[in-house]
Amino acid sequence: MMNNNLDKDNLPKHIAIIMDGNGRWAAKKGLDRVLGHNIGVESVQEIVEETLNLNIPYLTLYAFSTDNWSRPKDEIGTLMKLLVKYLKSEFDKLIKNNIRLNTIGDLSALPKAVQNEVKRVSGKTKNNKKMVLTIALNYGAREEIEYVVKKIASEVKNNTISLENVDQSIINKHLYTRNLPDVDLLIRTSGEQRVSNFLLWQIAYAELYFTKVYWPDFGKKDLQKALLNYQNRERRFGKTSEQINV
Ligand code: FPP
Repeated sequence: MMNNNLDKDNLPKHIAIIMDGNGRWAAKKGLDRVLGHNIGVESVQEIVEETLNLNIPYLTLYAFSTDNWSRPKDEIGTLMKLLVKYLKSEFDKLIKNNIRLNTIGDLSALPKAVQNEVKRVSGKTKNNKKMVLTIALNYGAREEIEYVVKKIASEVKNNTISLENVDQSIINKHLYTRNLPDVDLLIRTSGEQRVSNFLLWQIAYAELYFTKVYWPDFGKKDLQKALLNYQNRERRFGKTSEQINV
């Protein structure tokens, strides 16, 4: 039976979200795609706030993938401007709410204004403890894995680590997500049921939740619905149901 009350003791520690459907949301309303991203930022604000209220310590948002460079130039420009605007306008709130900003992805290819703002806000919030907000920027999971393989190979080559010691824990320590726990719940909005090169290693045991709601319409009620759904699943990590329920 579906329990309709959120159990505060059985919340995911780490939620990751593929924020999809901004363009379709705008098109449905006869608006320019870019407006979908603008309203999408309001959903980001609401979801960060709700995650914080629920004491969920890790939230990771897919804001710009390595594949997004193939979008029209003006759309890329808008997304970059929105990121800078978001970081500038939310800075005080991040400080006040004890939130640390973290990013994953290759920042070096991003406009200098984005890099500088990310550096500034990450630096000033680095000791914040209540929640880690990770924004994936120019991120691709296969690119991340490629980076890790190269890094570990070079460390083996120069004898910093020995080949025998390369294990899952060493791999974890080299990922962009080295300071984050595995993802417990992955949400994708807009009806697409794909992972699209997001956190492939880190979602090995995550529960996947897909909703038809477009990202600009996704609010705290929708997050609660996803969490209820999560709580009604049995996470077995390879064990039997009987082993879990002893
Ligand atoms: C997917 O919708 C969304 C994106 C590629 C960008 C997400 C970015 C934001 C919500 C704004 C900036 C982020 C932060 C963290 C402030 P889509 O454009 O692919 O939608 P479509 O599939 O309907 O075209």
